[in-house]
Amino acid sequence: MTLDERFSVAPMMEWTDKHCRYFLRLISKYAVLYTEMISVDAIIFGPRQKLLNFNKEELPCILQLGGSDPKKLVEAAKYGEDYGYSQINLNVGCPSNRVQNGSFGACLMKDPLLVANCVKYIKDNCQVPVSIKCRIGVDDMDEEQGLDNFIDIVSQEGVNKFIIHARKAILNGLSPKQNREIPPLNYRRVGALKSRRPDLEIIINGGIKTIDDGLELLQKYSLDGFMIGREVYKNPYILNSVDRDVFSKDKISKSRYEIAMEMADYIDNCVKKEGGYVHSITRHILGLYNCLPGAKHWRQELSENARFSKNGDILRFATEKIEKIIMKKSLVLA
Ligand SMILES: Cc1cc2nc3c(=O)[nH]c(=O)nc-3n(C[C@H](O)[C@H](O)[C@H](O)COP(=O)(O)O)c2cc1C
Repeated sequence: MTLDERFSVAPMMEWTDKHCRYFLRLISKYAVLYTEMISVDAIIFGPRQKLLNFNKEELPCILQLGGSDPKKLVEAAKYGEDYGYSQINLNVGCPSNRVQNGSFGACLMKDPLLVANCVKYIKDNCQVPVSIKCRIGVDDMDEEQGLDNFIDIVSQEGVNKFIIHARKAILNGLSPKQNREIPPLNYRRVGALKSRRPDLEIIINGGIKTIDDGLELLQKYSLDGFMIGREVYKNPYILNSVDRDVFSKDKISKSRYEIAMEMADYIDNCVKKEGGYVHSITRHILGLYNCLPGAKHWRQELSENARFSKNGDILRFATEKIEKIIMKKSLVLA
């Protein structure tokens, strides 16, 4: 069955781990979630169980791989398949030096034949569907011809889904953070690709701030989906409208309070089963009350105290407090 990817949350290293995804799934049932990029070497030679294990509730969830050795990619993709991920995505967009030194990420846009070969290997050896996340170009590559050429060569091997961060990556001179801000966004270029290749699924990413803005881009350029990263992390409750407005399904309609309480239970379970730090879970939910009265204190309380906490009570306590502040404020305004 093909995955309905009209809306997805971007892969973000150190951010979209399994705790973060579990939390996001409480807000939207249908949003497609991505892992952080995991290098094939880490999966093959590293702590595989820790890297790949996830809660089944997170599905649909896509495993993003970083690598350029076809055999290693197949091995890592097979592990991903066994763990039950919904799809494998190959990272062709990360500009970091570490990734460039490993010859993967955005620098692969310069070598479409190698990417095509990697994809062919995975497709020939695994059942799980494969997609690519890339930029509209790198360095001085021609944004028009260069991107068309890349997509044409890679899609010949049977990949028909491309997630495109609508700005170039500059591989020397800009940090990964600057590479998400400085190169200008060019949504029109992604739209032109979809017009030229309507047979492919094209998903747009980069700088989208609201669900409505994403829906507008879908319509304007007849695209197949949109992906949001930073804004979801900063303000996760924007996912609340996704099931209804993007997927035309019933809304989950959980309040922030209910979500926080479920996360407190999740923390209790995780700490009991796996050990680990409460802070490694609460750090992902600091944006839940974004822009509401008391949000700053709620964040502060969690950031400062979760480190010393042994269970979800810190979250229950902070949440009861902010709910009272919100209630008081709304009574004053009424
Ligand atoms: C902290 C952080 C880590 C990221 N890590 C990855 C990653 O592992 N793989 C990837 O393809 N993109 C990664 N990205 C890029 C995002 O997936 C996305 O393409 C980019 O942030 C633009 O989308 P946005 O403007 O909606 O945030 C990362 C972005 C951030 C902010």
